[in-house]
Amino acid sequence: MDKLVSELVANGYITDPRWQAAFSAVPRHLFVPRFYRGDEQGTSIVDSTSGDQWLSAVYSDIHLVTTEDVRSSSTAPSLMAGMLQALELSGDERVLEIGTGTGYNAALLSERLGSGQVVSVDIDPELVAQARSRLDAAGYRPLAVVADGVNGYPDAGPYDAVIATCRLDYVPVAWLQQLQPGGVIVTPLGAGVAVVRKSGPREATGEFLPISAYFMPMRHQPEPAVVGDAIQVALNGIGDSREYRFDASIYRDDEARFWLDLTNPDIRAMTVGGVSVVVRPDGSWARLADGLVVQGGGGAVWDDVEAVHGEWLAAGRPAREHTGWCSVRLVRRSF
Ligand SMILES: C[S@@+](CC[C@H](N)C(=O)[O-])C[C@H]1O[C@@H](n2cnc3c(N)ncnc32)[C@H](O)[C@@H]1O
Repeated sequence: MDKLVSELVANGYITDPRWQAAFSAVPRHLFVPRFYRGDEQGTSIVDSTSGDQWLSAVYSDIHLVTTEDVRSSSTAPSLMAGMLQALELSGDERVLEIGTGTGYNAALLSERLGSGQVVSVDIDPELVAQARSRLDAAGYRPLAVVADGVNGYPDAGPYDAVIATCRLDYVPVAWLQQLQPGGVIVTPLGAGVAVVRKSGPREATGEFLPISAYFMPMRHQPEPAVVGDAIQVALNGIGDSREYRFDASIYRDDEARFWLDLTNPDIRAMTVGGVSVVVRPDGSWARLADGLVVQGGGGAVWDDVEAVHGEWLAAGRPAREHTGWCSVRLVRRSF
């Protein structure tokens, strides 16, 4: 544990000595008694019976999948440290965490602020029950409850800060409503991490951290069936064909993807059997191969992607941390 914390400090991920103390005090292995690793052979469990593989991974700066069906994970400690420090806590704040998962982040917050100041919600009852018993074993008793985090948790509010550890594509107004004036929200938005301060009942202003973050999406939003259908159609469908301006590799560039996800959060880009396809819940689809894009389903989804990407290039590929925005509505709608 000490080695990991020293590395996080040496590499500049932990800069605040109070968070260094918290990371040194909370044993991650109590919260990650096992994790799942996938390779060509399938998925395997790594736990205390796996020799030193388990402990050495738990005390490494890596993200660990903690449920076999990949519905929860323990975030990489460096990313956790960056997000926790972005809260800029002085020590007496009340904090709401969205996405209890293993309970490790709730334990770090409890260590830093005291358990009575921390509320953590997860949509998954099994995970909340496990997290509660692990928190208890580690000596922390934050309020950990089963709830859909999109609604915040008004019963225990108001809060000075909200930190989310699952991906959204907008900031829910409920969080703002449960936040004290000037309170802070740190949340994954698309493929970035936004830090915003409440500036009005339905408004927050802020910026993005200069880090990439690929969190699990919030789970109350089931993938619309139409997306699955559109993928099948995209692979084989007949549509309008033209030469593409940009190929699908723009979705593999962290900074380019940040903009694409932010401006078109509903679009899913993927490779299926070596073919790049892009679909949207309205049923529109595109398939890219051999210099051509074929589009159909009612909308020209790749036209929209190319337009946004072209604007971003024309603006000089602005980095996420150099980009401000002025209201939570704009995050979703504007480039
Ligand atoms: C990356 S994990 C959280 C990691 C956690 N903070 C930790 O320290 O282990 C994301 C979590 O978000 C939870 N989640 C997904 N959708 C949610 C929702 N609508 N409300 C609350 N939690 C949700 C998942 O069940 C999952 O446990």
